[in-house]
Amino acid sequence: MIDQAALVYDNTQIRWVGNEQELPAQYGNEDSVDCGQRLVIPGLIDCHTHLCFGGWRGDEFEMRLQGRSYQDIAAAGGGIRSTVAATRANTAAQLIEKAADALRGMLELGITTVECKSGYGLERATELKQLEVYKQLNEQQPIDLVPTFLGAHLVPDEYQRNREDYIHLLCKGLIPGISRKKLAKFCDVFVEEDAFSITEARQILTAAKEAGLGLKVHADQLSNSGGAQLAAELGAVSAEHLEYADQQGIRALARSGTVAVSLPLASLYLRERYMPAREMLDGGVKVAVATDFNPGSAPSYHLPLAMTLACLNQQMTPQEVLMGTTTVAAGAIAAERQIGSLLPGFRADITIIDSDSVNHWLYHFRANACCGVLKSGQWAKALKQ
Ligand code: NIG
Ligand code: FE
Repeated sequence: MIDQAALVYDNTQIRWVGNEQELPAQYGNEDSVDCGQRLVIPGLIDCHTHLCFGGWRGDEFEMRLQGRSYQDIAAAGGGIRSTVAATRANTAAQLIEKAADALRGMLELGITTVECKSGYGLERATELKQLEVYKQLNEQQPIDLVPTFLGAHLVPDEYQRNREDYIHLLCKGLIPGISRKKLAKFCDVFVEEDAFSITEARQILTAAKEAGLGLKVHADQLSNSGGAQLAAELGAVSAEHLEYADQQGIRALARSGTVAVSLPLASLYLRERYMPAREMLDGGVKVAVATDFNPGSAPSYHLPLAMTLACLNQQMTPQEVLMGTTTVAAGAIAAERQIGSLLPGFRADITIIDSDSVNHWLYHFRANACCGVLKSGQWAKALKQ
């Protein structure tokens, strides 16, 4: 934290950061903006979302409140499968309109980069439709989108009796083309009893790696199946969820440098345990915090709420949480040299928060404490004076 700081940017990049008194004379006559006593931080990065989906699932919310479990609802045809049906039924234009609305809300909160997964298609046409939606949205609005292929979210109904054919379709039919057309930067697999086994995930992620995609894993969310170890073994950039990660998993992540992405809104909504973030940080694991925005387990894109929850329920310090949504989150999307830090040479993605410290910001929870956003050196949200 620098008190009385000055920051110089030029076009899209940061040029200089330091104490105002040490501002080099060459910058003295440039146009300037006074941010007052407010907090100036790197643009926030939401490094795990399922941004593009059809429909919502408010009815399941009430069912869960009455005691039905997430897995129970899914087994009865609800859950991810019902969102797959709604996403297949929507046109690309409908999906764009809905995701664009969420992105407008995210930008208002100070978020400048969003990782976004497919996985509500589970068939060629709809998986590609989701990735095309991301491509178009990337061109239409200020937030940078980083797309991830999550064709391995569940085995679709059509392949229940021959799941190896679906895995073959992913590995041979979809992954190589998606990578070639640059429709995704990463490939993710949901490793869970009712989704994909460790062996299946290893097969899919190995195909993705060979095709040149980076790797991510939805690991140990509802049970411990060794997902963290698999992510570490394959050199994944991140392992996500990890509510049920154990000692061995934590040690494996520390050794491999894989980022653990905590999703406290999913724990809140599913009334599940939280990822053992404190233990992980103390054990040398890098911990990011993200929303998991999706219509089931985390129907909110409010990253600052997730941040306050990470403090309250995971014993992370406000500073660790800020790192977890900036530089560490950038690591979870392999962009830690371009974004997530206010340093010369980094992109001028800058968020201004109406607080004089990180502690005050995350403790005094508000609907929106963000009062200005610079995206690539342009005011995407005008600074409120
Ligand atoms: O990250 N765990 C798997 N997928 C999502 C939930 C998707 C849904 O419920 O629609 C998650 O929590
Ligand atoms: Fe998720």
